[in-house]
Amino acid sequence: MRTRQHVNPLGLSFEEFRGQRPRIPAGAAVEIEVGCADAQFLFERAAADPSRVYLGFEVRDLLVDAVNQRAADEGLPVQGIFANANHHLARVVPAGRVDRVYVNFPDPWFKARHRKRRMVDAALVEGIATVCRAGGEVFFQSDVWSVALDAMDAFERADAVLENQAGPWSFWKDGNPYGVRSWREQNAEAEGLDIWRILYRRR
Ligand SMILES: C[S@@+](CC[C@H](N)C(=O)[O-])C[C@H]1O[C@@H](n2cnc3c(N)ncnc32)[C@H](O)[C@@H]1O
Repeated sequence: MRTRQHVNPLGLSFEEFRGQRPRIPAGAAVEIEVGCADAQFLFERAAADPSRVYLGFEVRDLLVDAVNQRAADEGLPVQGIFANANHHLARVVPAGRVDRVYVNFPDPWFKARHRKRRMVDAALVEGIATVCRAGGEVFFQSDVWSVALDAMDAFERADAVLENQAGPWSFWKDGNPYGVRSWREQNAEAEGLDIWRILYRRR
């Protein structure tokens, strides 16, 4: 499948929500990946524990279609949601409903003039903190040091509602605790790259 490599998530066309709203059955635990791409991580989670609902937020519509097709083909409880997570997460997911949010290897946007496109900002952190239930987990990982530092800065500013499980301003040293890996994670490990991880719990 051919998809555009990158889209500018700050484009005006991404301000309005045009996707399908998530379908969340009463009582089901909910996990979200923001920037899920092909949702490999969520499909592996769903295969390991199909009792939960897995929502993948993604700004590239062809990938969302492919995720929903695969979910139907494989009968797994994964839903691709076409959305700009920074704008729409807390608009389409009920407050306090989510057990876990993953941010796996967001786009690095290396050029200085593109840095404002980086996904983890105050708006996304506020959205994540809003949808998470008390005790819910927020897991971030990246193989790009400056992306990880920017993300930690954004998360630590919300320390009134998010508690860093490694201590304030500290990275999580015990690896990925969830037993499944996204494509980017598999590539980073295969290439021997360092991976910086952060784990928070909603207060
Ligand atoms: C580098 S890929 C990582 C994919 C996957 N998480 C992994 O670890 O393999 C980042 C993805 O985030 C998506 N993305 C970027 N900004 C976004 C936003 N504001 N809302 C939703 N998705 C976004 C991109 O389109 C891209 O598919």
